[in-house]
This record gives sequence, structure tokens and C-alpha cells, in this order.
Amino acid sequence: MRSPSFRTMPPDGGPLRVLVVGAGAMARVWLRAVLASPDTVLAGVVDLVPAAAEALVRRAGVPETPTGPELAALATATRPDAVVDVTVPEAHLPVTLEALSLGLPVLGEKPVAATLPEALRLAAASEAAGELFMVSQSRRYDRHLAALRDRVPLLGRPGILTTDFFRAPHFGGFRETMAHPLLLDMAIHPFDTARWLLDADPVSVRCEAYNPSWSWYAGDAAATAVFEMAGGIRYVYNGSWCSAGLETSWNGAWRLSGELGSATWDGEHPPEVELCEVDAVPSSEGEAGQAADAPQGVADAPQGVADAPQGVAGALAEFVRALRTGTVPAGEVHGNVLSLAMVKAAVASAQRDRRVHIGPLIEEALTEARKAATGPEAARLHAWPSASEALAATPRGLHRAG
Ligand SMILES: NC(=O)c1ccc[n+]([C@@H]2O[C@H](COP(=O)([O-])OP(=O)(O)OC[C@H]3O[C@@H](n4cnc5c(N)ncnc54)[C@H](O)[C@@H]3O)[C@@H](O)[C@H]2O)c1
Repeated sequence: MRSPSFRTMPPDGGPLRVLVVGAGAMARVWLRAVLASPDTVLAGVVDLVPAAAEALVRRAGVPETPTGPELAALATATRPDAVVDVTVPEAHLPVTLEALSLGLPVLGEKPVAATLPEALRLAAASEAAGELFMVSQSRRYDRHLAALRDRVPLLGRPGILTTDFFRAPHFGGFRETMAHPLLLDMAIHPFDTARWLLDADPVSVRCEAYNPSWSWYAGDAAATAVFEMAGGIRYVYNGSWCSAGLETSWNGAWRLSGELGSATWDGEHPPEVELCEVDAVPSSEGEAGQAADAPQGVADAPQGVADAPQGVAGALAEFVRALRTGTVPAGEVHGNVLSLAMVKAAVASAQRDRRVHIGPLIEEALTEARKAATGPEAARLHAWPSASEALAATPRGLHRAG
């Protein structure tokens, strides 16, 4: 199979003109990032509800910004270079398909799409259009998480990664009525982080989802999932959205156990690393020698990361860099589908009360995606030898005219 490629833009061009689609709560954060970045200018804001778009630009202090209810019409009027999609998950498919068909690269909020078949359609649509589609996993852009990831090799072979997440938010609205609020709305963040920290993809999961007796959520507000990751590593997620008192950070509390020691991160402060004594590692003396010289204690962010933009601003900076240089960004749609697959597999395991393997789940999704696809993505989906091979193909940035 040919490697997918995406169009890049001249590195010496001016700032990227960005059209933001979706003017809800999270769009406020995105507007701040777009307006603050030297790499971007705000071309316009689209929302199905025109008053929402108008209120957003007014509140952001840029009331003269063009707004409207239709992406294609505002794109024609404002000639943007890219789209930032901050709509609800159900709209990620139509908005991204439309933007790609207009020849615009897309930076979309998580999750990539509402369902796995839709996510595969978007990966294929990105290939068909030759445009970048990157999903913003903004929690990856954190200097303390970068410090933790930087130290992972010191621990030798990783074996066990855990996240504890215990909070008690009262959101009101859709989260309190959906079937799996914690898994569907929140867990994608740590699941995606686990893939990134371990540099390993998921193989299977056994998950139990449940609702504590005092919970104010209709659906299951708590879950425990044990993932097998590539290489036999176990990732254990233990979370609740109705646990008041001694709350963890929004990133959760992390522990990584490796052959040569452990690392912990509370999600807010620099991580801590402790390597075991040289004598305590009789089976691999070469690596133990390394461990003796390795730094221990509190870990600082790697060089160049400490001052890098964090959160949403970090995702925006990486998107612009990818379009300028052709470097494949974290969150490029093909890889990111696997973070959504972890969520969907965990929900399926809880519902079926058994272990669920990720590979077959993705192939089933491809069958559904092929049936549903009607646009230019259909031919790509039918050309894929399998979903797993298509998702593993590394995209390349290509300088092309236009
Ligand atoms: N990264 C994070 O930490 C984080 C936090 C919150 C939300 N999110 C994500 O951000 C996205 C938006 O969440 P939110 O809380 O802002 O939602 P929201 O409901 O507050 O706002 C969504 C907006 O999108 C608009 N919209 C819906 N369909 C549209 C369409 N087809 N075209 C144009 N506009 C459309 C709605 O009218 C609404 O104004 C979701 O994908 C959510 O998962 C991410």
C-alpha cells in the first residue's frame, strides 16, 4: 500500500489563516490560542447557531471577525488555510469531510469521531484529499509529562503502567445522562497518554464499568480497565467521576514500573523517578550499570520543552509545524484512531463482560465504514488491505502546488 501523504505549505509563508468551526465552551480556549499564536490569525468562526459565533468573537475582543452558520460559505468569503474543528463529536465526521473536500487541512478536537467506522472514514478521506487531519490530544503537551516520557528509557523494560483518576465534577447536561460518561468523555486522554508514554499500541482490554450507589450520573461513572499493550505491558486504568475528597489532578496519578525502577507523576508537578540498587538487578548487569549512573529524584522537562506552548496552544503549534515542514504530528488521524479504539474496546468489554481484542474490533469497523462511505473516501477504504495495515502506514508530508 502506498504511504498516505499530506500537502504542506511554504515554510516562509505568513501566519496560517484559521477558520474555527464550533463556538461552544471549548472554542473559547481555542480562540485564545489562535489569537495569541504568532503562527496563526483568525479568519472566521462558524457555528450552526449564528448567535453563538457572534457572541464568541465579541467575548474574545475581536467582534469584527467574520462569522456564519455554513463552513463552505465562510471559507469562500474568508479564504482560510486551515480549519480548527471544535464541534460536538457527532459533527466531527461531516465537518471534517466538508473541510477536506474544500482542500483545507483540519485540526480537530478529540475524539477523532463519534464512532470507530466514522474515524476510519476520516483517515481515508484525509488520504483521498491529500490533506492533513490531526486530532488535538492537548493533554500530551505538558512539560511534566514530557519529563516523565524522557525518563522512561531509564527504567529498562516497562511492565506496568497505572492511572488513578478520582474526581467529583457536577457538570449537569449530557454527561449526567449518557451510558458511559467517564469512558466516553474523559478516558481517551489517559488512554492516549498511555500509548504515547509507552510507545506501544493496545492489543486487548478487560474492563468493568459500574456506578457507585451515591452517583449522580445515570450511566456508569466509574471503571477499571486492564489493557494488554504491545510487548505484554499492562496498562491499568482505575477511575471515577463521583469520588469527592482527596481528588487526583485532572491528568490523574500515574505510576510506571520497569525492570530497573519506577516513576510516578501526580499530573501537576514534576514526576519522580527511583531506580533500584545495582545489586537488585542480577539478570541484566549492563543495564544495571546504566541505572547506577542515571539521575534519580525529581525530573525536569527535557531541553526545549520547558518553554514550549502547553495544552491546546501546543497542539496548534505542532499542527502549524507539520504543515510547514511535513513532519508527521502526534495525533495524525491514522495513529489517533487507536486511542479511540481503546475507549470503544473498553466500553465493549464492559457491555459484553469479556476481554475484547482491538484488532478484530478495528476490522469490524472497516466493514461498517465501507458500507457507510459514499464520498471520495470510499475508494480508499476499499483499497486498504486491512484496517490495521492502513493505520500503520506512516503518512508523509509532501510539498505540492496549491
Ligand atoms: N481537550 C479537552 O480537554 C476538551 C475539553 C472539553 C471539550 N473537548 C472537546 O471539544 C469539542 C467541543 O466541546 P464543547 O464542550 O465546546 O461543546 P459545546 O456543546 O459547548 O459546543 C459545540 C458547538 O458546536 C456547534 N456545532 C455543532 N454541530 C455543528 C456543525 N455541524 N457545524 C458548526 N457548528 C456546530 C454547536 O452549535 C455548539 O455551539 C468536543 O469534541 C469535546 O469532546 C475537549
